[in-house]
Amino acid sequence: MSTYKIAAVYGDGIGHEIVPAGLEILQAVARKHQFTLEVEVFEWGAHRYLSAGSFMPEDGLEVLRRFDAVYFGAVGLPEVDDRLPFQLYTYKVRKAFNQYVNYRPVKLLPGVDGPLKFKQAEDIDFVIIRENIEGEFVQNGKIFDADRPHGFATETNLFTRHGIEQVAHYSFQLARKRRKKLTNVTKSNTLIYTLYFWDQVIAEIADQYPDVEYQKLYVDAASASFVLQPERFDVILTTNMIGDILSDLGGATMGSLGLGPSGNINPERNFPSMFEPIHGSAPDIAGQGIANPIGQIWSGALMLEQLGETAAAADIVHAIEQTVGDKILTRDLGGRTTTAEATSILLDHL
Ligand code: NAI
Ligand code: MG
Repeated sequence: MSTYKIAAVYGDGIGHEIVPAGLEILQAVARKHQFTLEVEVFEWGAHRYLSAGSFMPEDGLEVLRRFDAVYFGAVGLPEVDDRLPFQLYTYKVRKAFNQYVNYRPVKLLPGVDGPLKFKQAEDIDFVIIRENIEGEFVQNGKIFDADRPHGFATETNLFTRHGIEQVAHYSFQLARKRRKKLTNVTKSNTLIYTLYFWDQVIAEIADQYPDVEYQKLYVDAASASFVLQPERFDVILTTNMIGDILSDLGGATMGSLGLGPSGNINPERNFPSMFEPIHGSAPDIAGQGIANPIGQIWSGALMLEQLGETAAAADIVHAIEQTVGDKILTRDLGGRTTTAEATSILLDHL
């Protein structure tokens, strides 16, 4: 019987409600499929920063390193400087563990009344692969003379050939397992150095995958296509910031941000990968028991897939589809089901 060591990092806000819900589902599916999840909970996040001065202990990365995967909610609180959560937790882990792939499926679920009235479930089914450790989010900049009339700020994007190549290979290989279509979402007509280079390297890699249909699309046009023609997408390969923005738009086309799952993946498995919903800590609804747990639960399915428990992962996705298919919907989807009720109905389906 396989055993996996899971670090559960609740984070802040609704993380305290949806991560425990996700763990309940994971333990149930583990019993059913006869593997063991050894879970350790870590109370890290912005609330820890308020009391202890840091999001995680100094040896936090070494602690996480000993696990097979990290199951994470979200970090950030209104009382804490919002430049810190990404810098002191999310990006820190992604970078240290070389999680260069951010895997974000977008799929219209049965029973959910999405905002795109003229689209059917089969029209919205694609994956966004967001480059996860370089690009616009390397936090290399400076603010000069902020309070003076001549004050100014700079921030430099960083794209390396190696970084682009590794995420491109992952994306083309993923496209091969799906509908064999890859769209590079870029903005090289105006970011004429970094994203021109990005396009060039991706085009070189595309030549190595002649069986995958390759297309380049600018992000402004791509955003319109998310709404008008989502069926044109299979695998989207894009940069850190563009992927961040488009995945919330993708979540919206699914009906709610609360549905979207994600995996921060180190494909070589030299480090643990980290799984979290696409949304944040939602402080506006935290503590009310009404958060949609599905993005978190679905992230658990992505985690099991990465650990090799594919049948268990498929079971979770199936239970999600049955639950929303029966119109068991939380408030963000227009229903009245609570986090706890949705979780318990999902458990019944398992
Ligand atoms: P958010 O994603 O937390 O919330 C946006 C809106 O979506 C809110 O109205 C919220 O109530 C709703 N929402 C999000 N998840 C939901 C769920 N599961 N069920 C029902 N409704 C849901 O984004 P926001 O408000 O921009 O950020 C809040 C905090 O989260 C900030 O501190 C931000 O920095 C942090 N954040 C953290 C992330 C991470 O840890 N990876 C990612 C994004 C934001
Ligand atoms: Mg985001």
